[in-house]
Amino acid sequence: MIKADYLVIGSGIAGLTFSVKIAEKFPERNVVIVTKASEEESNTKYAQGGVAIVLNHEKDSFKKHVDDTLIAGDGLCSKEVVEMVVNEGPDRLKELLEWGANFDEDASGNLDLGKEGGHSEFRIVHHKDITGFEIEMALLKRVHQLPNITLLPHHFAIDLITNHHIKKLKPLEKGCYGAYVLNQKSGEIFTIKAKSTLLASGGIGRVYGHTTNPVIATGDGIAMAYRAKTKISDMEFVQFHPTALYDVRGDQSSFLISEAVRGFGAYLRDKNGHRFMPDYDDRAELASRDIVSQSIDSELKKSGETHVFLDCSHLDIDAFKAHFPNIYQKCLDNHIDIKTDWIPVVPASHYLCGGIDVDMDGKTSIKNLFSCGECTKTGLHGANRLASNSLLEAMVYAHNIFKFHSKNTLETFDLDIPDWDDKGTTIAKEHVIIQHNLKQLQAIMRDYVGIVRSDDRLKSAIKRLDLIYDEVEAFYKKSKITTSLCELRNMLNVAHLIVNQSIERKENKGGYFNIDNV
Ligand code: FAD
Ligand code: SIN
Repeated sequence: MIKADYLVIGSGIAGLTFSVKIAEKFPERNVVIVTKASEEESNTKYAQGGVAIVLNHEKDSFKKHVDDTLIAGDGLCSKEVVEMVVNEGPDRLKELLEWGANFDEDASGNLDLGKEGGHSEFRIVHHKDITGFEIEMALLKRVHQLPNITLLPHHFAIDLITNHHIKKLKPLEKGCYGAYVLNQKSGEIFTIKAKSTLLASGGIGRVYGHTTNPVIATGDGIAMAYRAKTKISDMEFVQFHPTALYDVRGDQSSFLISEAVRGFGAYLRDKNGHRFMPDYDDRAELASRDIVSQSIDSELKKSGETHVFLDCSHLDIDAFKAHFPNIYQKCLDNHIDIKTDWIPVVPASHYLCGGIDVDMDGKTSIKNLFSCGECTKTGLHGANRLASNSLLEAMVYAHNIFKFHSKNTLETFDLDIPDWDDKGTTIAKEHVIIQHNLKQLQAIMRDYVGIVRSDDRLKSAIKRLDLIYDEVEAFYKKSKITTSLCELRNMLNVAHLIVNQSIERKENKGGYFNIDNV
């Protein structure tokens, strides 16, 4: 058993930002970060466009950023949360700069500001087209300088420890006391007993067969919170990014062509060259993400094609290369020369707007359990997240959770937490059940629970998911734990939440569109 003052699950921007802040403030307290892959692997690492922050107060204002966020969220944002997050942006950016993250500057030495869909002004700070990587590396560097942080890569959090694990305890309020963790290299499962636990476990992109997210994005934190009976909402608002590189390999991870490329002036065209976005929205390619993705979906349904195109051929190619070196190179690697060729693109699952409900302090409905980053529903995004508001939200809420802990004493518990119980389980002889059911799950979500939904398709999805769920639960009960088995189980929990909450939504909003609600 490990004892921690703070247990942090996840090493993306949310988990690392909180860890750095709390470890700096309380050098006598210990922070344990568990993360299931290598330390830098996260959605954060792949973030391209940047962070939305109002810096140019001559042209821009907090109010404009607030308004853009509210419009994108289609009436379902909390205005109080939006204002708080937007106003905090500059201070959180200052900290990132202090920790060593670099952002591009313009010719006058000010931070260069990009533009993305749904933003009325240029306000996206960025490090070329690899902003997330730059932030992740700066945070990890700071983490390694702090002796009171222990970072455990290749450690998988299986389940939260809550009251029902502890027989003798009868507290009035339901609490979290840490987590059971699998050392993925040794296979050992041990307890981390913690006074405070932070879920910073990221998104759910891999639940879909076609996603911009890396393999870690399996919704583990949301599933753990769900099993612990934490409040979770807005799961129907899965955001599909309009422009993932179309890849003939099908069910693979899709490389993202940043929204900033459209902010730079690229056009969306059908195969005949028609620039179709002005037919759907006055903002054309820079309409918010839900509208662009739904428009592409509608074009593809009409034409029967598999993808549309992003045309950059009219742009200043040298400037493009300077801004988007990674995208430029990735296109070349795929035999696409953007000077002459259009980039084939298709929408892909990208971001979850809903998640574990928290208040302004990042507190969940369970005592001593906090949630931050993409696994969380704060009220910022409503029905559709405005581009580049996610990194901002993670930094701001990590700060709020830090502030809460600075003001409140950590409770100590004298608890006898039982060891992980895997009596009666054996090492599974074959794992085909996991791979096969994973493929089926991803296909169901892609085909039945995509950009445009219908009541019949959602009901069919539930029936199919139930069959897989029963099979996987039976397998789980008799098998020794493995990462892929837990991830599949978690993705099934998440898929059920998405489908059930979709069925409950009777009005189309933002990223949610059901033909039976029209
Ligand atoms: P993550 O960065 O995903 O970190 C989650 C961590 O939890 C990982 O370390 C993971 O390994 C770990 N973890 C998960 N489950 C477990 C478990 N069971 N046990 C232990 N560890 C676990 N947003 C923007 O604002 N601007 C952008 O430009 C932008 N571009 C993007 C581009 C791409 C391609 C993608 C995929 C997303 C982009 N986003 C962007 C969204 C943004 O990157 C994410 O929402 C944000 O980084 C999430 O941060 P996080 O810390 O919450 O989660
Ligand atoms: C992008 O660069 O298009 C992604 C931005 C985001 O997801 O906020």
